[in-house]
Amino acid sequence: MSKDIKVALVTGGNRGIGYELVKQLALKGFKVILASRDPEMGHEAAQKLKESNLDVSFLVMDVDNQESIRQAAITVNEQYERLDVLINNAGVYLDENEKLLTIEPSILEGTMTTNFFGAYHVIRSFIPIMEKHGYGRIINVSSEYGAIGEMSYQGVGAYKLSKLALNGLTQLLAAEINGDIKINAVCPGWVSTNMGGPSAPRTPKQAADSILWLATIGPEGHSGRFFRDGKQIPW
Ligand SMILES: NC(=O)c1ccc[n+]([C@@H]2O[C@H](COP(=O)([O-])OP(=O)(O)OC[C@H]3O[C@@H](n4cnc5c(N)ncnc54)[C@H](OP(=O)(O)O)[C@@H]3O)[C@@H](O)[C@H]2O)c1
Repeated sequence: MSKDIKVALVTGGNRGIGYELVKQLALKGFKVILASRDPEMGHEAAQKLKESNLDVSFLVMDVDNQESIRQAAITVNEQYERLDVLINNAGVYLDENEKLLTIEPSILEGTMTTNFFGAYHVIRSFIPIMEKHGYGRIINVSSEYGAIGEMSYQGVGAYKLSKLALNGLTQLLAAEINGDIKINAVCPGWVSTNMGGPSAPRTPKQAADSILWLATIGPEGHSGRFFRDGKQIPW
């Protein structure tokens, strides 16, 4: 593989914002690994992009399953020997207006497992590949629902807590990571996907555009920040 070709991986790349991120990264010249927990959906999504001559390959990774993440990292290390961009996009939205005190605790646990622990374990497993080259750009797809001010309002508690924790993780890891490896969180806005629903005003393409500038920031770029539409927003 040419040394000049950068490799990017997107979790939950089979649909929604993740699929668009894969497509846009490939259009920018990245070799893109579309990670999906469902082999059939992942294969189909990657195949569709390959048919447009995009350099996309598919990898199974269930971010709820640490062994699946570990195996995926081994495969990327063996096959590509590098990882320049990692986008933690996979996410679930399992609660609406329920109260935290009365929802099934499994809803909170499941949401934390995917949205917070999923990203945490993926970063832990993949960062050694970035560290080999002293370079990496990690983007955590978060939400303004995870901002501290949102905790004053009832509702969507499981999802809000998961993104609050993801934002905290972004800051803590930025302080821990050495070398030219940047980690930032970004809110894509309200986007028309399975999660966002058909009334959402933004397209996945607009969301991807608002995220992808962080994939190519230079060594002077920010780390440990939270952005929306290129502007820093309060945690
Ligand atoms: N849409 C919005 O308005 C909005 C707003 C703010 C933030 N976000 C964030 O943006 C990200 C993408 O959301 P979206 O709107 O594109 O949602 P979506 O259409 O529901 O897609 C979610 C993706 O995450 C994957 N996923 C869920 N659990 C997974 C797991 N355990 N392992 C691997 N993949 C898993 C899904 O895979 P399956 O197909 O297998 O289920 C799917 O590919 C999420 O982190 C979300 O919180 C979205």
